[in-house]
Amino acid sequence: MEWIWVLLFLYHFVVPVWGLSTTSVTTATTTKTTLSTPPSPKSVKTTSVMNRSETALTLKWDKVDNNSNYNYTLCYNDQNVSISNLEGGSTVTYTVPDLTSGMEYTFILYTVFKGVQSTGYSFTTVTTPEQVDNISVKNRNETALILEWDKVKNNNIYSYTLCYNDQNVSISTLKGVSTVTYTVPDLTAGTEYTFILYTVFKGVQSTANNITTVTTPQNITKISVKNFGETSLILEWNKVNDNTLYNYRLSYNSKNVSISGSNEGSVVTYIVTDLTAGTEYIFTLYTVFKEAESRGSNIAWHTIPNIVTGLHCKYSSGGYGLTLVWDPPNGGRTAVQVNMSSTSFRNTGERLYIDGLLPAQWYTFTASAFSGPMQSIPVSITCQTDPRGVIAGVTSLLLVILILCIGIFIWHHKTNISSLFESSNETKVSSNKYKPIPLKNFPMHFSSMSCDENRGFSAEYEDLSTVGADQSCTVATLPENKGKNRFTNVLAYDSSRVKLAANPGSDSDYINANYIHGYGKKNKQYIAAQGPNPSTVNDFWRMVWEQKSSAIVMLTNCTEGGKIKCEHYWPMDYMPCLYGKLMVTIQSEQKESCWIQREFVLRNESSSEEQAVTHFHFTAWSDHGVPIRTEELIQFRWIVRKHIETFPFSGPTVVHCSAGVGRTGTLIALDMLLQQMDKEEVVNIADCVHRMRLNRPLMVQTQSQYVFLHQCIMESLQPKEDSIPEPIYENSDMIYSNALVLNEYKAANTGV
Ligand SMILES: *[C@@H]1O[C@H](CO)[C@@H](O)[C@H](O)[C@H]1NC(C)=O
Ligand SMILES: *[C@@H]1O[C@H](CO)[C@@H](O)[C@H](O)[C@H]1NC(C)=O
Ligand SMILES: *[C@@H]1O[C@H](CO)[C@@H](O)[C@H](O)[C@H]1NC(C)=O
Ligand SMILES: *[C@@H]1O[C@H](CO)[C@@H](O)[C@H](O)[C@H]1NC(C)=O
Ligand SMILES: *[C@@H]1O[C@H](CO)[C@@H](O)[C@H](O)[C@H]1NC(C)=O
Ligand SMILES: *[C@@H]1O[C@H](CO)[C@@H](O)[C@H](O)[C@H]1NC(C)=O
Ligand SMILES: *[C@@H]1O[C@H](CO)[C@@H](O)[C@H](O)[C@H]1NC(C)=O
Ligand SMILES: *[C@@H]1O[C@H](CO)[C@@H](O)[C@H](O)[C@H]1NC(C)=O
Ligand SMILES: *[C@@H]1O[C@H](CO)[C@@H](O)[C@H](O)[C@H]1NC(C)=O
Ligand SMILES: *[C@@H]1O[C@H](CO)[C@@H](O)[C@H](O)[C@H]1NC(C)=O
Ligand SMILES: *[C@@H]1O[C@H](CO)[C@@H](O)[C@H](O)[C@H]1NC(C)=O
Repeated sequence: MEWIWVLLFLYHFVVPVWGLSTTSVTTATTTKTTLSTPPSPKSVKTTSVMNRSETALTLKWDKVDNNSNYNYTLCYNDQNVSISNLEGGSTVTYTVPDLTSGMEYTFILYTVFKGVQSTGYSFTTVTTPEQVDNISVKNRNETALILEWDKVKNNNIYSYTLCYNDQNVSISTLKGVSTVTYTVPDLTAGTEYTFILYTVFKGVQSTANNITTVTTPQNITKISVKNFGETSLILEWNKVNDNTLYNYRLSYNSKNVSISGSNEGSVVTYIVTDLTAGTEYIFTLYTVFKEAESRGSNIAWHTIPNIVTGLHCKYSSGGYGLTLVWDPPNGGRTAVQVNMSSTSFRNTGERLYIDGLLPAQWYTFTASAFSGPMQSIPVSITCQTDPRGVIAGVTSLLLVILILCIGIFIWHHKTNISSLFESSNETKVSSNKYKPIPLKNFPMHFSSMSCDENRGFSAEYEDLSTVGADQSCTVATLPENKGKNRFTNVLAYDSSRVKLAANPGSDSDYINANYIHGYGKKNKQYIAAQGPNPSTVNDFWRMVWEQKSSAIVMLTNCTEGGKIKCEHYWPMDYMPCLYGKLMVTIQSEQKESCWIQREFVLRNESSSEEQAVTHFHFTAWSDHGVPIRTEELIQFRWIVRKHIETFPFSGPTVVHCSAGVGRTGTLIALDMLLQQMDKEEVVNIADCVHRMRLNRPLMVQTQSQYVFLHQCIMESLQPKEDSIPEPIYENSDMIYSNALVLNEYKAANTGV
């Protein structure tokens, strides 16, 4: 009640004062209104972004009521900024500084008049995102490029626009990785592209980053070799797409060569020099376009090998063969081809043995080196085969003629020729309690001997066991000679032993070796010897030299089953070796599946005389056993026999294995029996072994070897045309004889 009275009082006393001045009334009225109920100003209706950068936003709005007296407060980021002194113009422009790039900001804009704020206008906008830092080409091929860049601020809120080839591609990001990888497809090979990349945040693009790169150029489809020699060649290819912007890289022999493709014309040629003759090279050629290289195109090429040098011939096989020798390659080569009339041989080494020739004949050989398909210019040589056999042959022919003349002379003097033959037959058979078996009866004989578990063979072989055993071996058991015997039970009989010539350097004339009579009346056809041991190697060579032997037949390997069977008594390689006074050189070595044939030259260092010796080394026969098949041994014997007949005047053929009785006895027996077969159409195996055992103990040492001799004769009865034996017969036989070997082996290991 009381404030009503106060108002009435004011009405009566104040209103008349106002009435004094009318001009001041309007002013006063306004002042009075504000003071009493100050009205809120209106808010801004809209704002626009005039300029935008990574750190600032320039905002613009129309002044409220076009009144320049109003102030504004901009609220963002927990701060209120006052905007005042806005004279002139009808708009307000304000730049918000110190912002962060690629962020969304919320602003509230208040209109302020004399301390009173409007309700405020709220809006959001973003700053410009950062541009992508670093674009790289992760991979490229002919039709695609894989671009990669780090996510801006490692943040997933941004996307990207890639602009190339007049198109814009929008790229969104994958969560969980810090990079963006984009494969640009459908491009053209060997072309340069510029990619412009923008970061995009709520429709706002960053400034552009760009990368200019190229797609992989096409490879070269065809490289040709235009001209080639021993050490150089010319490569030629067509420019890829006829494009002179492309260059090329040639890679070979761990070298890189850059070749420009900017020349005129559509063909590029390159001369490669400094190559090695006879060598295969692989050239890889790449098309190069700026930082990109095509896949490599390969071409392999052999350079022509150098000609064969140092070609010469060496005598072999007593004139029935020749060994061609030449120098190692100067450069590379894969083989040497040797032609003899229409026959062609290939050899990867430096020597070639050619057999099937005739002694004392002239032969022309042409040789050229090969490297892959490349052939050098051929070189020729004309050589004569060893004439010594023929000279010997001619001598023996003369002898035959002489004998014939004597014969005719005797015949003319009415001497009975037939009695001459009879007497010779008599001497052969006289000491013989075994009957020769005519060849036509042999298969029957063989089967009767085999029946009842080989009772026949066993009995006959057993009967031979004591033959010759009563002979003396005095020298063999002398103290100075004991160490020269490999086995205490295999000693050389005094009567038939080979005596070494008196020699100042040696303690005795003893060597564990015996002469063995050959077929017919050839007294010293063979020497059966023990395989040399370390202390008898020099004696062995002395014997070969002194006996003038031209062949050594070796029937053992140096080691068998981990045991040393025989000393390796010849040089290991082509370096000559000295044994006592004898220098031994290997001239050639020819390997076959079951044997090796070597040509040695012995040179006496005191007299400088030389002697050729052929080494026939059978490698497929185990101790005490028998070879798996008869065929190989029969072939081997044939080669040995051919040699013996080629050198009729050379000394005894030295045959040895380990002890020099089992395998040695078997081969000698085989040689004699096959001669007997040829000449007499009969064989007498038991008699043959009997005779040999009179010269050396234990010759044909096992029953299986004895049976094997019979099998060899059976095999040799087959007509030559169908030399392949009936398999069933052969196999069952072999099963039998191998079982026998096993039994003997067991007996030897438990008993003796
Ligand atoms: C926009 O901002 C940039 C950088 O702050 C400046 O250089 C440019 O002149 C501005 N443009 C306008 C229209 O204000
Ligand atoms: C706003 O006021 C200014 C003077 O302050 C005047 O020049 C202008 O024409 C006015 N604009 C509008 C749209 O009324
Ligand atoms: C800014 O002004 C508004 C309105 O007057 C007020 O609510 C707010 O608390 C102020 N903010 C700061 C940080 O002063
Ligand atoms: C606007 O702001 C200025 C400076 O802060 C002040 O002097 C002025 O009185 C303000 N105007 C109004 C109408 O509030
Ligand atoms: C771009 O990336 C490469 C390797 O990825 C790096 O060596 C280089 O420093 C980067 N450049 C910039 C500007 O980050
Ligand atoms: C090139 O690369 C892309 C992507 O890795 C692939 O899809 C395409 O098959 C490739 N093209 C060739 C010719 O290898
Ligand atoms: C791609 O985007 C850029 C920038 O936004 C623009 O300038 C250009 O015209 C666009 N190009 C196409 C083909 O859309
Ligand atoms: C690419 O970026 C470089 C600077 O990084 C600039 O000089 C060039 O003009 C840009 N090219 C294009 C096509 O945008
Ligand atoms: C030849 O170049 C290739 C690619 O440029 C390189 O990988 C290689 O190591 C280089 N070889 C030699 C021997 O320089
Ligand atoms: C060239 O490259 C293709 C694959 O792109 C390949 O199939 C072809 O063998 C290559 N050509 C040569 C000559 O290497
Ligand atoms: C050997 O003969 C063949 C066929 O006649 C021939 O192509 C080759 O060049 C000859 N080789 C030598 C070394 O003469």
